[in-house]
Amino acid sequence: MMKLSLTARLFAAVFSTAMAVALAMGVLTHVNLNRDFLGYLNEQAVNRLDLAQVSVTAGYRENGGSWDFLREKPELWGRLLRPRVPEGQAPAVKSSPAELTGATRRFALLDVDRQRIAGFSQPSPDAVERPIVVDGLTVGWLVLTPFESVSSGAEKRFADAQLRSAWAVGGGAVLLAAGVAFWASRRLLRPVRRVAEASHRLAAGDYGTRVPVTASKDEIAQLSHDFNHLALTLQRNEAMRREFMADVSHELRTPLGVMHGELEALEDGVRRLDAQALRSLQGEVATLHKLVDDLHELSLADVGALSYRKTDLDLRTLIDGTAGAFRERISGSGLALQLELPDQPLPAFGDERRLRQLFSNLLENSCRYTEAGGALRISARREGPHAVIDVQDSAPGVLPEQLPRLFERFFRAEASRSRRSGGAGLGLSICQRIVQAHEGRIEARPSPLGGLWLRVELPSHG
Ligand SMILES: Nc1ncnc2c1ncn2[C@@H]1O[C@H](COP(=O)(O)OP(=O)(O)OP(=O)(O)O)[C@@H](O)[C@H]1O
Ligand SMILES: [Mg+2]
Repeated sequence: MMKLSLTARLFAAVFSTAMAVALAMGVLTHVNLNRDFLGYLNEQAVNRLDLAQVSVTAGYRENGGSWDFLREKPELWGRLLRPRVPEGQAPAVKSSPAELTGATRRFALLDVDRQRIAGFSQPSPDAVERPIVVDGLTVGWLVLTPFESVSSGAEKRFADAQLRSAWAVGGGAVLLAAGVAFWASRRLLRPVRRVAEASHRLAAGDYGTRVPVTASKDEIAQLSHDFNHLALTLQRNEAMRREFMADVSHELRTPLGVMHGELEALEDGVRRLDAQALRSLQGEVATLHKLVDDLHELSLADVGALSYRKTDLDLRTLIDGTAGAFRERISGSGLALQLELPDQPLPAFGDERRLRQLFSNLLENSCRYTEAGGALRISARREGPHAVIDVQDSAPGVLPEQLPRLFERFFRAEASRSRRSGGAGLGLSICQRIVQAHEGRIEARPSPLGGLWLRVELPSHG
């Protein structure tokens, strides 16, 4: 459908262009030829008139110095016009164009009073005149009425030739247009059509659709390339959405399952409803609560609705405070804390609660995922327009290929897959959102201490 209309339009465009050019050329040729041809005819006629002037003058002399001979025998007029050829010379004028076009038929002879004696019956006012002078006296006028149009015979032949060439040009234009349209539909439109069909499939939800990218570096290759990129992005997003849903339901199901089991045991009397059972239930509820809170926060961050109340604050104080709050936890995990803070304040413009949440998440991870007897080093300093905060710990670390994935939702490194020590895998995604909301950067790399190194860069002013 689409191909037909585009091809047809192309055909029409090429065809009409070719026809218009041919027509314009035809008209111009016709006009030029007619004008030049007429000019040529009249030029020849004037040359012929000069010859006739000589012979008519001679004729007048030979016939007793009067026009009476002509008035009596008008049929002598034709002979009189014949050019006088000197003896022994070929009659060159016999075959001259003026002879062939019948120029002499447009000659007329007028007497001194401008009365017609012989020849063309309606001499026009713009006639070319030659006086017939005998013995210094003008005895009459030879006049030529110029051609105003090419004689009908010639005109007809010319028109026929024009028509023939018009047919030839028209046929050529059809062939050319068909050729161009065919070529265009093969070379240009087919790839476009392919992309159009693929878009259709994509719109119907077939995200695996790809179009072949041609080797040429033209717009169509670019279009195909971009289309494939679009399809890949959609496919990835779709996969991520499914994974996310599966992860969410899995994460919710686990604590719910545990609670369900415990409640059943209580109901059946297998277990007694004592303080320990309540604590266990509380723990599961807390896990669920945190999970739902984190998910809520992430979804708010995704739609850009997470509210930030930014104020001028000092990162040095904030980090010091957060580390202080974790002192118990850190020593409880058997870690040695090294805190390296600058002497000067580290001013920043941010949401204190969120930034606290960011560093708490990092410290919480270090406590959770570092073997006892290890070390935790927190350092903060100013680097140009940025405040750089490093949180490093000792073994275990994260496999290098997993480093970029740490910030994905629900991602947990293989070593800490056990539910006992690990969380849901949302903490670092939240950290990343918080850093991004402060126009900063967060990066994970292996630490020289043997564990993980998280570097946070936040804009610092003042
Ligand atoms: N300091 C660390 N040392 C080693 N591995 C770490 C460290 N911090 C994070 N990880 C790994 O990165 C994973 C993702 O961390 P993240 O904080 O996003 O999720 P989580 O701690 O598992 O769960 P949540 O923070 O949602 O309770 C962790 O499961 C862990 O495997
Ligand atoms: Mg965490």
